[in-house]
Formats: sequence, C-alpha cells, structure tokens
Amino acid sequence: MEHPRTVAARGGVLSETGEWRGQNVFVKTLLTADPDVRERFKHEGQIAAMLDHPLVVPLLARTPTQLLFPFIPGGTLRDLALCGPMSAAEASAVAMGVLHATAHLHSRGVTHQDLKPENVLLMRGPVQADSVRVIDFGMSHARTLPLDIHSGTRMGTPHFMAPEQFKGVRGDPRSDLYSVAVLMFDCLAGHPPYEDALGWLVGIHERRAALPGPAELHPVMLAALDRDPSGRHNSAAEMLQQLCAVRRQLGFSVSGPYESALSPDITTPGMTVGETA
Ligand SMILES: Nc1ncnc2c1ncn2[C@@H]1O[C@H](COP(=O)(O)OP(=O)(O)O)[C@@H](O)[C@H]1O
Ligand SMILES: [Mg+2]
Repeated sequence: MEHPRTVAARGGVLSETGEWRGQNVFVKTLLTADPDVRERFKHEGQIAAMLDHPLVVPLLARTPTQLLFPFIPGGTLRDLALCGPMSAAEASAVAMGVLHATAHLHSRGVTHQDLKPENVLLMRGPVQADSVRVIDFGMSHARTLPLDIHSGTRMGTPHFMAPEQFKGVRGDPRSDLYSVAVLMFDCLAGHPPYEDALGWLVGIHERRAALPGPAELHPVMLAALDRDPSGRHNSAAEMLQQLCAVRRQLGFSVSGPYESALSPDITTPGMTVGETA
C-alpha cells in the first residue's frame, strides 16, 4: 500500500487509509498476538468475505493480518447526523439502503449486530438509499461460523442494541431491524429513542421520546422498536416493503434498484426467524 495514513489504532488493530493498485483503500491491520483479538479479526474477515452486495462495503483483499476495503469518501452517517436532524426523505432513504444491505446479510445467514450511524458510510452527493455502504462486521454473527467470540469482550452501543441482544441472544435477524429503527429515529430526531437506554434495556422504564418525523413513518418505527422480537417485522424485506409503501404515500421516490423492494436476492429464504445461536 502507498501513502499510508493512520486513522486509528485501538484494541490491537491499526486502521489506515492509503492507495493500493491505483485506488483509495481503508486497511485494518492486526498488530497483536492476543489470541482473542486474532480470532475476532479472522472472524470479521471471514464474514466480510461471505458478502456481496452493492450497499455493503466489499472486501478487496485479505491476509491473516490485513483486511482491505475501498475507501468510502462521504464519511459516516454519524458525521451527517451531527449536522442536525435529517429530512424524512433522507432518513427514510438511508433506512431503506441499510435494510437492503441487511436483507442481503440475512440471506447469507449473517446478522450484523452493530448497526449504528458510525457503521454506515455514505458516498458523496445527495443522500439516497444507494449512497449507503454498511461496514464493520466485528460484532456480526454468522450461522455457518458458530463461534461465539463476543462473550463479554465487546458490547454494542446500548442505544442501538435490541433488548434480546443485551441479554446475550446472538443471531436473531430481528435484532438488526430494531437497530435500523433506532437509526432512522436518530436521523429524524437528532437523538435516539431512549435517553436512558440501559434502563429501558433492562426493563425499568418505558420512557421513549416522542416519535419524530411524519406520522406515516411512525407505524414502521413502532413495530421495529418492539421490545419483543415477535412484535417486529418478520424480515428485513418485510420492513423494507412497508417503508417503501410509506415513501410512496409521502410522495418520495422509490426509484432505482429499490423500485421493486423484493429483488430475488432478498426473497431468498436465508435465515429462519427466531433462530438463535
Ligand atoms: N471503507 C471505509 N472507508 C472510509 N472510512 C472507513 C471505512 N471503514 C471504516 N471507516 C472509518 O473507520 C471507522 C472504524 O471502522 P470500523 O470498521 O467500524 O471498525 P471498528 O471496529 O473500530 O468500529 C468507521 O466508523 C469509519 O469512520
Ligand atoms: Mg465500527
């Protein structure tokens, strides 16, 4: 790699940007011999290698100590959200993009488990569903890699974590739907639904902030935010379909690859709902 520039170094992993074979890349390099960190790094690479979708950052190359991804130039959804609440058109478009990517993950038997604005990148230009690039499989669970590498070592952000995830359930695709709903809520409101997320997760209060954005978007958020996974949509495809219908109602475009919300890829039965590791 040429012109390396350090972005971060933490937890035994160095993140750098640079150039590789004429393109801008983002590279993660394993720096430690710690067996747990090495195992998690390998797991992240294996999951990234299982995926292939335009809205999921592709793995360009992998060695036992390096993961190479294309550099995504538009920054994170967190950077954008810091500029203030987003419009309903933008927030719902981002949610659609993330759901499309999520449906692909689920069709490959993968649950992301850490969907949050820091793990959603955007291409430059207008904010649309297809600007989205989902990253970071460091917390992900794959049905075919039944290794639980997350026992207590690293936790998701409580705001974006589904209650069952907080209790240790891994591999339920409906946990990702919860996170997408929090993400859309956060984009619209400028803050997540619960000020005291931990208190809500453990069940000591139900004090959710008022649902933001137009009323048409509320049913999809309410369903996906259900404490009980069985109260949520059954699949990312189902949530995507509902969101698409709402966007039509609101007069927003659902053009491009999202026109028919159910591409063959996402109707492929991938993971049994309710399956846990
Ligand atoms: N392909 C990429 N292009 C540009 N920035 C990236 C890319 N991948 C990650 N980043 C940046 O680095 C941060 C950390 O990367 P991430 O894969 O989420 O690792 P971590 O496990 O440290 O959260 C992201 O939040 C984002 O700001
Ligand atoms: Mg991350």
